Amino acid sequence: MRLSVVGLGKLGSPLAAVLSSKGFEVVGADLNPSYVEAINAGRAPVVEPRLQELIDQSKGRLTATTDVQFAVATTDATFVIVPTPTGPDGVFIMDYVLDAAKPIGRAIAGKSGYHLVVLTSTVMPSDTQAKLVPALEKASGKTCGVDFGVCYNPEFIALGSVVYNMLNPDFILIGESDAKAGALLETIYSRSCEKPPVFAHMNFINAELAKISVNSFVTMRISFANQLARICDHLPGSDVDVITNAIGLDTRIGRKYLKGAVSFGGPCFPRDNVAFAKMAANLGTEAPMALATDKMNQDYLDHLASRIERLLPAGGTTGLLGMSYKPDTGVTEASPSIELAKRLLQANGKVVAHDPLALLESKEKLGDKVEWAATAADCAARADVLVILVPWPEYAGLKPGMLKNGGQDVIVLDCWRLLPFDEFSKVCHIELVGKPR
Ligand SMILES: NC(=O)c1ccc[n+]([C@@H]2O[C@H](COP(=O)([O-])OP(=O)(O)OC[C@H]3O[C@@H](n4cnc5c(N)ncnc54)[C@H](O)[C@@H]3O)[C@@H](O)[C@H]2O)c1
Repeated sequence: MRLSVVGLGKLGSPLAAVLSSKGFEVVGADLNPSYVEAINAGRAPVVEPRLQELIDQSKGRLTATTDVQFAVATTDATFVIVPTPTGPDGVFIMDYVLDAAKPIGRAIAGKSGYHLVVLTSTVMPSDTQAKLVPALEKASGKTCGVDFGVCYNPEFIALGSVVYNMLNPDFILIGESDAKAGALLETIYSRSCEKPPVFAHMNFINAELAKISVNSFVTMRISFANQLARICDHLPGSDVDVITNAIGLDTRIGRKYLKGAVSFGGPCFPRDNVAFAKMAANLGTEAPMALATDKMNQDYLDHLASRIERLLPAGGTTGLLGMSYKPDTGVTEASPSIELAKRLLQANGKVVAHDPLALLESKEKLGDKVEWAATAADCAARADVLVILVPWPEYAGLKPGMLKNGGQDVIVLDCWRLLPFDEFSKVCHIELVGKPR
């Protein structure tokens, strides 16, 4: 079976590489010629761990083109992974998907056999049936469920571990136009996953709602842990990690995404949760937990900003360690660190920042108002208050001796409890989020 992947961005190129590394002939298609050139030259178009390794393993089975219609016409199934940005009203826009549907439909029109279209982009409930299927039927002149099939099959990945998550999914969610379409997609994943995956087959609407429910639920957990950390900050003797490690042992709760530290961010969590609440409002009902999660996330950032301001001497400089929204990625979309830097600058504060991967993106967002440090130690040496915002492993390697700014001790706010407190507290003032001393 030959496959095409339309959209070779942060998700599309890893998917194309995973599928081709597992033996499928894959044609990638993207309007961005530099991504297409990169794939055809055997280079990864985006930064993602293991992506290059999988492209190397593909041994010529992976090619790319800017001609979407050609990619679809020469393959049997097409994954669509184009952007679905959030519109001004908080819901996801389908423009890119519907643009891509035109050449996909034209290619299907010219085919004699069955074709499967798999929509992977995150969409609002009802958009697959109400928007994508009619667009494909119009452009192809054919009937969904008869001449071609459609699946809504969102990914549950985290940037920085996209390849691992694609090879080892907890489950594969398949919203399907008909049983034939779902079964065909199942055969593709049965070959591409490292272990036999668990499949959840359903109609489009349930799959669409399930996708945004996952992120809305996970953000609620993160916010719960942050709420606990904030309470611990006021309760002498308490320790948020001791509590979350214990309650995480309860199988009704579990341990993942239960670390009180910093507000959540990134290209998916905040917007999926907002879209969840917006969808409820558009249906004439409410999603009070999603709204509370969003409010908690914003309030928690205010709480961190005030805490930094309280520690900062007049005219002092804040050093921010970590600008991406999480470790192992250079993505700064909706990053709490970028938001905090903006707030500190607005209050006329001085900011020096470091990130192992996200320096370029951060500079684009914050420009020369922020000083950029080449290393974590350099950031520490130029700060009055040093805040560990992202748990990059290299920050755990900071030594107490590095915490001097022109002979003055640097104050540390360790949001992730990365540094050994006893060692550091001997030489400087160090505070931990969720663990008062
Ligand atoms: N990035 C994530 O962490 C993540 C996680 C889960 C779901 N998603 C969803 O996956 C989708 C894609 O996200 P992404 O991060 O890969 O986006 P991206 O912006 O990194 O990549 C999208 C690619 O699509 C290409 N494109 C746009 N219109 C096209 C068209 N008509 N034909 C061909 N190519 C086209 C763009 O040039 C770009 O390279 C979105 O719906 C997003 O919500 C993303």
